[in-house]
Amino acid sequence: MSVPKRDVAANQLSQFAKEHQNDKESITTTFGAPVGEKDASLTVGYHGPVLLQDWVLIDELAHFTRERIPERVVHAKERVHLGTSRFSQVAGELGYPDTVRDIRGFAIKFYTDDGIWDLVGNNQPVFFVKDFALFPSFIHVMKRNPKTHLRPDYDMFWDMITLRPETTHTTLIMFSDRGIPNSYRQMHGYGTNTYAFVNAQGTFVYCKFHWRSNQGVVNLSSEEAERIAGRDPDYHTRDLYNAIESADYPSWNFYIQVMTLDQAAKNSYDPFDDTKVWLHSEYPLIPVGRFVLNKNPKNYFAEIEQIGMDPAHLVPERTEKSIWCPFTFSYLAGIEPSPDRMLQGRLFAYADTHRYRLGPNYIQLPVNSPFKMHNYNRDGQGTVISQGGAPNYHPNTFNGPHEDVRAKALSPALALNGIAKRVDSGNDDNFTQSRMFYKNVLKADERNRLITNMLTWLLPTTVVLQERAVAMFSNVDQELGRRLREGLKTRQHVDL
Ligand code: HEM
Repeated sequence: MSVPKRDVAANQLSQFAKEHQNDKESITTTFGAPVGEKDASLTVGYHGPVLLQDWVLIDELAHFTRERIPERVVHAKERVHLGTSRFSQVAGELGYPDTVRDIRGFAIKFYTDDGIWDLVGNNQPVFFVKDFALFPSFIHVMKRNPKTHLRPDYDMFWDMITLRPETTHTTLIMFSDRGIPNSYRQMHGYGTNTYAFVNAQGTFVYCKFHWRSNQGVVNLSSEEAERIAGRDPDYHTRDLYNAIESADYPSWNFYIQVMTLDQAAKNSYDPFDDTKVWLHSEYPLIPVGRFVLNKNPKNYFAEIEQIGMDPAHLVPERTEKSIWCPFTFSYLAGIEPSPDRMLQGRLFAYADTHRYRLGPNYIQLPVNSPFKMHNYNRDGQGTVISQGGAPNYHPNTFNGPHEDVRAKALSPALALNGIAKRVDSGNDDNFTQSRMFYKNVLKADERNRLITNMLTWLLPTTVVLQERAVAMFSNVDQELGRRLREGLKTRQHVDL
């Protein structure tokens, strides 16, 4: 491993810190009001939903969803993704090499008789942070430094990781072999957040979604991934396109995990914390179906660039195709959000970004359009659907679309009781599951590669952050901490 040298660009943040040692400004909203608690959303009790009156977070999220302006018309290169499913990379821009270390998006759009259902997940069962209050900052540290315009910026990354120990679990997964899949076909997918199923009686259970690849899980070594990035930056895109065109259709089996309300109340870890998995030994995978990719898009821009996935696109009604649940002995009729704090923030963010990126009528684009749509929205940029002269106000006596009694009956009545408060959720047990992953899931050679991969990203950062990382990962396993410390000592870089 070559020893990376820190240069002026790498020191951008240290330089800033030096120059601003005596600054005492507090955080403000975009309109200048001081913010007292930055890292927790305003929920009704610890597990309550987030309140719309949390204007501090809406202010930040609405800005975050508008951070990017459209790509340039020349010099912007297309990349991955498919028909009603779209695979992606969290941090890289259009044209970034496919084979970099990152989490991959795994999003699927279902066109059902009762509307669109989007399952917008990742190729990992857990995420770095659990309160959406932290999401914009977390994405910032994965992306370019706004001054140097370079990425990764190792100081930004390790600073945030080590200040928020709930990132430990996903960080370990990202630096394991799974951080660079060999292809989109050879990775599993996960809904990651916790959702709820509602049955015909309006009672509900919590659930998680899983896609298991029938092509197996195959990953690339860091060295091979680097070589491929130079040779074929579109490696994953090419693989998927070619497989589908040659009728070698990739498929995934679809499973759910189910947790009853009673089980949720007694569970030893928070079932709504997306930095944790639900243990398969306690909540087994229940098979429900299969998903095959058998068609490439005919026009990439129309079907992929314009697709608008949204975790708030949920189907509330019972349909003939609903899922039989062996635990509750009933059909699971509709899908609802759970109090998962990250999911609560996502419910707002996606439509907000689509209205900005694709226009207020993005849902009328063919790729996003449900089979039927009758409502009281009218006009705006990009209107296509006329609604046939139906009244544009409700209630009305002129046979405009009416409320659906079935959907009404299925909205679960939630008993909420709690104090509306910002409670930082970062200090729950962040290490037990990380330890299980490191010690029980990974084999010895996989642990060795994990440490080498972590050192590659840790070596270029400052000594202070290296020490903090060693301390944090020692909480997972003393041996892991010791090996990181020794790796850093023997290959220590020289600070500028
Ligand atoms: C509050 C937290 C989050 C916010 C604000 C957020 C926001 C966004 C935004 C703005 C986009 C771009 C959408 C577009 O322009 O089409 C996006 C895409 C995406 N997000 Fe999130 N996200 C959050 C959390 C998550 C989490 C936890 C996951 C994984 C479980 C996830 C998975 C994805 C995926 C897969 C895509 C790509 C969708 C596609 O292929 O069209 N996001 N997110």
